[in-house]
Amino acid sequence: MQTIGALRERLQTDGFAVIEGFKSAAAIAELRARAAEIVEAFDPSVASGVFSAADENERADEYFLGSGSTVRCFFEEEAFDADGELRQPKGLSINKIGHAMHDLDPVFERFSRGPELDALVRRAGIAEPHVYQSMYIFKQPHIGGEVRWHQDATYFWTEPQTVVTLWFALERADRTNGCLWVQRGGQRTPLRERFVVENRVGKPVKLDSTPWPSEADAEPVEVEAGTLVVFHGRLPHYSAPNRSAVSRHAYTLHVVDGRAAYARENWLQRDAALPVRGFV
Ligand code: FE2
Repeated sequence: MQTIGALRERLQTDGFAVIEGFKSAAAIAELRARAAEIVEAFDPSVASGVFSAADENERADEYFLGSGSTVRCFFEEEAFDADGELRQPKGLSINKIGHAMHDLDPVFERFSRGPELDALVRRAGIAEPHVYQSMYIFKQPHIGGEVRWHQDATYFWTEPQTVVTLWFALERADRTNGCLWVQRGGQRTPLRERFVVENRVGKPVKLDSTPWPSEADAEPVEVEAGTLVVFHGRLPHYSAPNRSAVSRHAYTLHVVDGRAAYARENWLQRDAALPVRGFV
């Protein structure tokens, strides 16, 4: 494993750090198998199908906003054809699982916690780690959706800004299957948007009109399975659609510093029923 001693400095200069060989093949295999079980047990009618178009937005909002303290599957946007039928088997149609597996599922918890991650996040400058969110991202073959330029601090507003993203490659990620692209040093640009919830509806609020980086400023982060990419909450990043025949599974954790004030307007809230915790 590469040295992570200078992690904080690298987040300040580049906005991200790539740590190869962080997770073993066995740990990855266990997480992938558990994710497959969750998808297998998932009933698609819970997330689609039986409501009128007028209800659709409200329902989608509730399904998403309610997922912060539980485990839910979300479909790829292109999962269904014009007749509402899945184009690919269910197991190849899910965009992601979110957002509390690290607290509710023993296999995910094992992958997401421990002294190694605790030490790493402290070296990133977070003294009181609060792990708010986990996401298992499938980036399915052929239909894996694009994720446009954004900054993760948009979704995890703290004062001061503290959110750090841990992005674990569960498979090789490269330009052919929709790897991450980042703007090196882009964490020095302002936060463009803040995502807030008002009256149980989530919406983006524009904070700054700085344009997203041009293609020339984007750098692909091509990594092998087992690599951990750590990035600053204000680092602009995106990923392209996956039109290849190979999936691009990844797992992410979002961590803020408990010493900072976590906004009540953030979509993901925790309460005494499922309090936010650290890595150990
Ligand atoms: Fe992101």
